[in-house]
Amino acid sequence: MYIKEIELNNFRNYQKQKISFSDKVNIFMGNNAQGKTNLLEGIYLNAFGKSFKSVKDKELIRFGEEFCRIKTIICKNGEEEVVEIVITKDGRKGIKREGVKLKKASELLEEYYMIVFSPEDMKIVKEEPEKRRRFINRELSQIRKGYLSDLNHYRKILKQRNAYLKEYMIDDDVLDVWDLELAEYGSKIISKRKEFIELLGPVCNEINQKITGGKEQLELKYEPNVDCDDHINEYFYGLLKEKREEDKKNRTTGRGPHKDDIKISTDGVDIRKFGSQGQQRTAALSLKLSEIAIIESETGEKPILLLDDVLSELDNERQRYLINSLGDNQLFVTTTDLTEDVSRNLPKGNIYKIRKGEVENNL
Ligand SMILES: Nc1ncnc2c1ncn2[C@@H]1O[C@H](COP(=O)(O)OP(=O)(O)OP(=O)(O)O)[C@@H](O)[C@H]1O
Ligand SMILES: [Mg+2]
Repeated sequence: MYIKEIELNNFRNYQKQKISFSDKVNIFMGNNAQGKTNLLEGIYLNAFGKSFKSVKDKELIRFGEEFCRIKTIICKNGEEEVVEIVITKDGRKGIKREGVKLKKASELLEEYYMIVFSPEDMKIVKEEPEKRRRFINRELSQIRKGYLSDLNHYRKILKQRNAYLKEYMIDDDVLDVWDLELAEYGSKIISKRKEFIELLGPVCNEINQKITGGKEQLELKYEPNVDCDDHINEYFYGLLKEKREEDKKNRTTGRGPHKDDIKISTDGVDIRKFGSQGQQRTAALSLKLSEIAIIESETGEKPILLLDDVLSELDNERQRYLINSLGDNQLFVTTTDLTEDVSRNLPKGNIYKIRKGEVENNL
């Protein structure tokens, strides 16, 4: 799978720009604040229907304009597909694939596989559980149909239940309706996460072994907040009932997959807390690289990879490992400077110079 072409209209700091890409390596080079990350964001938007930054859709529109449009031609299994997204200033978003309007943005991400490596991702091991949950959510949304819709349902119900818990008068029968639904969707999320982490663990360990020269055993372990093996739905529902008085007192839902985490350890030591920076980065890199392997084996498709400013975060050895393991995937890399170190490790590819929202190809 690869992106053949993108056309940006009033997107971020781009006014009007049409760019053709190599199906292998594409390097976006330019000084700070010129539009490198914006271009990756545009590419990502057409595969996920939303940005990888947490921003409001309308913030993607070029300052002072009424709307933006991003159009890409994506090649999948030898066929070309056109995806077009239009966002208007009043916050409306329309997505079309092959001219047909999509009902939900999530229809896109189950079709197109893309992985972003950002400096933030290099911190997923050491930062708070929310970052690791976001990682699992993003991955599962791509490889398991229905996961994102279950997750969105769960979030909606959780929000409503939490709002209800803040009310002055609470009716247990009303709460019970939320509990039933929360347990139903929550249990689906828990079992999919469990299966995914079991799948991810060995792949991740293998990659980590290769990077560290077989020195360390990396282990991933799902840490579900609602911990049980069978009949998760009933168990979670029972737990919500049991903790109801506590929830009323705290005015929020204390238990559920919104509190999950993944334990990451090397040779038995929990490196989220006790790992060296090097161990944490290597594990983070292994996690991201195992995403590629899992998507490929689960879907038969090679995901498109976006590397935003990550090379400078890694030492030479890890850079080389990363680039070598990217194989035949289409790759978009941003860099402020193609230093000797970086260019030595990069395979030859198309270079694009980006200046103030203008792109110059093939220098
Ligand atoms: N909606 C928008 N309209 C116009 N310009 C915007 C909009 N959003 C962001 N920008 C501008 O885009 C520029 C940032 O672009 P971007 O983040 O892509 O930079 P970059 O090339 O990745 O830089 P760095 O090397 O620092 O990461 C900023 O100057 C910002 O003001
Ligand atoms: Mg940037």
